[in-house]
Amino acid sequence: MNAVLEEKVSITEAAPGKIGAEVRGWDVTTFTKDSPEPELLRQLIYRNKVVVMRDQYELSEQQYVDFARTVGRPQVYFQPQYHHPDHPEIFVSNSLNEEGKKFGVSGTGRYWHTDCSFEKHPLSFTCVRPIFFPKSARETSYIDMARVYKELPDDLRAYVDGRMAMQEAWPRYKVQTSDLDKSIAELIENFKAECPPQPHPAVIEHPVTGEKCLYISSGFTSGLVGLSHEENQRVMKELFEFVEQPKYVHTHFWEDNDLLIWDNRSLIHKGSKAKPGEHSRMYRIGIYDDLPFYVGIAP
Ligand SMILES: [Fe+2]
Repeated sequence: MNAVLEEKVSITEAAPGKIGAEVRGWDVTTFTKDSPEPELLRQLIYRNKVVVMRDQYELSEQQYVDFARTVGRPQVYFQPQYHHPDHPEIFVSNSLNEEGKKFGVSGTGRYWHTDCSFEKHPLSFTCVRPIFFPKSARETSYIDMARVYKELPDDLRAYVDGRMAMQEAWPRYKVQTSDLDKSIAELIENFKAECPPQPHPAVIEHPVTGEKCLYISSGFTSGLVGLSHEENQRVMKELFEFVEQPKYVHTHFWEDNDLLIWDNRSLIHKGSKAKPGEHSRMYRIGIYDDLPFYVGIAP
């Protein structure tokens, strides 16, 4: 890989069986659609699942969107309240608003999930650029669901193999000022009409690596299709207890000027929770690589 990169770029890939690559000295503002870097980066993501590009000192919002366009097709999230006012591709997670000005949405993604699993075509990659952090809680955690699937006990594997799982966003809906005077039932009904429950296989095959990944999360997966309510409650509890074991958790500790990008097919992730009074602002861009999300679904 390094042959086409300048000497100043250093890449440390994950050790066997681990995830996470670190890149230093790579200026993403120099990427173009026709340069070799975007394809190198995509392959680095597929192999390592999460890649941190350190020291991205100067990266304006426009440059960030331009970079994302070299890697794939940026998403415009379906709920406009998350959009950056000048760049709808930037999804803003933000807890600090200037007087009278709501900017993005606070407290996003602090539960295990994979981005947009509740959509027919979920997001291939997620890219995150922190603008500022709280003093505490400077980390995002990941679980490699290909490893989890490999190590899943036979009795649990028998429940997920060949079965569909329901992905649902409505329990995570964040109430907006325009929802005033609406009942909870009405809000749920409206949001379900906009974003209906979506089935996906509980085990997906990655279109690039060929790995089988358990594609469920306690944040968005409501149950396995075909099981009774009682059986689902028992099996999902056992599955999530197995998935969320500390031995599977990989933690990214944020440094200033990081740019992080990860593979949503094989990872679930969770943001950390800051202490009251501390603030964070993160800019996310979802990116589609326009491959089928899993083997068997159209791109
Ligand atoms: Fe997320």
